[in-house]
Formats: sequence, structure tokens, C-alpha cells
Amino acid sequence: MSPHASSTRRFGFAAGHRYWVEAWTPAENGRVFGRLTVPHGHNYTLDVTVRGPIDPQTGMVIDLAELKRIVAETVVERFDHADLNADPLFRGRVPTTENVAVAVWELLAPKLGADRLARVRVWEDPTLYVDVRGEPPGGEPSGEMARK
Ligand code: NI
Repeated sequence: MSPHASSTRRFGFAAGHRYWVEAWTPAENGRVFGRLTVPHGHNYTLDVTVRGPIDPQTGMVIDLAELKRIVAETVVERFDHADLNADPLFRGRVPTTENVAVAVWELLAPKLGADRLARVRVWEDPTLYVDVRGEPPGGEPSGEMARK
């Protein structure tokens, strides 16, 4: 059996959002989200980790140029300079960092394979990131939050 490894490639995109639940009144939104109801932007950093056996011929887990192309076409072009609230992926889903990470997972898993996509880490700023990892069969992606 060939050795396994995880490879991570970093991306960036700038996007705008606000926290808003359509079903709530403005007062309820304000009470829960405060200033986050005001449209604002972030320079997001995205770390995409793929895992698998190291191919004995190429020495690679994945062609990292191919990974770069897939993430750029699938995620960066979609979200860069976008209003996340206007994206159908966030219809009925507040574009929190957690939900951005889940949306990235949903976009990439079909392209990379859920078994090969090991982790999606979305940094909203240098002090806050959210991880989403692969799901157990039949389960939902699991989220994890960290604040340094
Ligand atoms: Ni924000």
C-alpha cells in the first residue's frame, strides 16, 4: 500500500454579506445579529485539503495544478466580489463563516470526490476560521469552529 498524505492549497476571495433571516422582523434580526445585519465585506482565505495515496509514479496525492483550476473555477470565480446573500447557495441560509465553509464543501465534493476532499477551512479574517470535514456515509458534513 502506498503512503498516504494530505495536501492543502490556499485561495482567497473578497465577498460581501450580512446576517439576516428573512422570516424574522428587522427588530429580531437586530437583536440576534446586531451590527452584522449591516452589509460589509471580508477578505476570505480558503484552505482546501485533499488526501489520498501518493501515486508511486507522479509522487502526488493530486495534481495541484488541477486542484487550483477546479477551486478557482468552482469557488473563487463564483464568490469573488460577490454578494453572498444574493447567491442561491445562501437562500434560506445565513452566510456565516460556517455556512460559507459548508457551501464550499458542497461545491467541491462532487468535483474532487467526498472521499478525497479531506477538509475545507474558511478564514473570515486572521483570527477566525471554520473547518468542515468529510461526512460519515449518509451523514451531513460536520462543522467545527475555532477562534485563536
Ligand atoms: Ni461579516
